[in-house]
Amino acid sequence: MQLPNYAFFKGRIVPYSEAKVGLLTHTLHYGTGVFGGIRGYWNEEEEQLFVFRPIDHFRRFLESASLLCMEFPYSESDLTRVLFDLLRVENFRTNCYIRPLAYYSDEIIGVRLHGLTPEIGIISIPFGSYVDDEEGLHITVSSWRRLDDNMIPARGKITGAYVNSAFAKTDAQRAGFGEALVLNQNGHISEGSAENFFLIRRGVAVTPPVTDNILEGITRRTIMILLRDELGMEVLERPIDRTEVYLADEAFFCGTGVQIAAITRVDHRPIGTGRMGTVTDRLRKLYFDVVRGRVSKYADWCAPVYQRTEVAGKR
Ligand SMILES: Cc1ncc(COP(=O)(O)O)c(C=O)c1O
Repeated sequence: MQLPNYAFFKGRIVPYSEAKVGLLTHTLHYGTGVFGGIRGYWNEEEEQLFVFRPIDHFRRFLESASLLCMEFPYSESDLTRVLFDLLRVENFRTNCYIRPLAYYSDEIIGVRLHGLTPEIGIISIPFGSYVDDEEGLHITVSSWRRLDDNMIPARGKITGAYVNSAFAKTDAQRAGFGEALVLNQNGHISEGSAENFFLIRRGVAVTPPVTDNILEGITRRTIMILLRDELGMEVLERPIDRTEVYLADEAFFCGTGVQIAAITRVDHRPIGTGRMGTVTDRLRKLYFDVVRGRVSKYADWCAPVYQRTEVAGKR
């Protein structure tokens, strides 16, 4: 993976090699950080880099931080401006991934959330696909259960909680599957290791509610709108049983990283025909147009990085 050239670190944009933290840093030991994952899409026709829903991403980022008692002098608009400065310095003419991180920089021993110093860092790198087979994933139901809201809240993107995701993902991949589908403490579907879940059954789209220990995904919200308003489908947020997945006509994961990935088999059982279904196919095509700023109705979701007059040099 290519490393970033620059980073937003301690309030300024610096060369990435200067963005370093000490070994005793609180978040490194106790998982007391939060992060975001945002995509920038290069639109070749317009020679423009569009960041997808940055205000919504930074709002969730700041909300996640507030769950860990972090307070910052930045609003979501401030962070978007900082991000755009960073992207202009990187001068990307390609799709990229953006990773903001809020962490406690104190180099001390002692687990807690209060009386600490929060900092924000942001980096970005060129980025392609997150999973290998976006058109036909074979997944497994994980033996790991999703963290409960009263353990570590899944609705916040908390660094320590990703140990739970990492267990699920590694065991799934070592067993030969592409991804894990994780159940919550009640045995209902929560989500994948780093993506939200939808199934389609009898013409209705169903996704777990935000009270079922899922990340409040921005792609999930985007897709609910596209399914309802563009594909004319009913969308339900309700608990999903494991065996409803087996009987689904279609299923897919969604998220900033994975985008929309068709799930075509679960534990060797074919979903529907065992191939990507028509709804998932149509939705993916629409989504890729929307995120590149090609659908005027949703242009507000796509924030242009470069001034129209600015010519970004090739890299
Ligand atoms: C656990 C988890 N669920 C869902 C998602 C999807 O969220 P979003 O669509 O906001 O990227 C992610 C990805 O960031 C995630 O890590």
